[in-house]
Amino acid sequence: MNKLIIANWKENPQTLTEAVSLAKAIDDENLVIAPPYPFLETVGKVIKKASLGAQDLFWEDGGAFTGGVSGSQLKDLGVKYVIVGHSERRRLGDTDEVVAKKVAAAIRNNIIPIICIGEKREERKAGQSKSVIEKQLKAALSLVKDQKSKVAMVIAYEPVWAISTEPGAEPDTPENAVSMIKFMKTLVPSSYSLVPRFIYGGSVNANNAEGFLREKEIEGALVGGASLKEQGIKEIIKIARQYGN
Ligand code: PGA
Repeated sequence: MNKLIIANWKENPQTLTEAVSLAKAIDDENLVIAPPYPFLETVGKVIKKASLGAQDLFWEDGGAFTGGVSGSQLKDLGVKYVIVGHSERRRLGDTDEVVAKKVAAAIRNNIIPIICIGEKREERKAGQSKSVIEKQLKAALSLVKDQKSKVAMVIAYEPVWAISTEPGAEPDTPENAVSMIKFMKTLVPSSYSLVPRFIYGGSVNANNAEGFLREKEIEGALVGGASLKEQGIKEIIKIARQYGN
């Protein structure tokens, strides 16, 4: 299977012109581009090979929810993937329960959720990495655990301490990422007819991407900071192509 690279632009760039020019420059079939909401429609129109991703969604499909953006609205714009449970959203109030509702909303609207799971630095230091991951992942899947039909999902191991904008951030080692992914696989309900894809995220760049992407267990990468630099993301895509099949 091809390795999947997710370009999570976060709250960048600041203008549509920049967004369009970057999207055109990095367009590739192994890529999901997740721009900020206001740029989704135009970026969706200029990309020819990449898939369109959103960075979040609200769990209700419509109604009196000021500021909410629904899965159905995203679907209507051609969004194929949506990031759910990113640590930057969890920090702003997305609880495990909220993440579960968002995962269910994505699936209900035929959008593939990219579910972010990862422990904080202090939890890691306290030896709680696996228990935190287990709690987050089980909760995220709790409303879709009986799903028997084909449900596509991407699950990203994103240790919070490895995200490039965290103070003192350092990328995980490929060995640890593989072992966490193997552990996460044991937590996915066996009733799922479609096995989720597991990817890694946290300070992935052109220099370290190969270490992760050559691992069979790591089926892609979620890239933040480095996805805003044309050369950097192109290099990561090249590496992904080399190790995909
Ligand atoms: P980073 O971000 O690549 O800048 O560490 C990854 C993420 O937050 O998803």
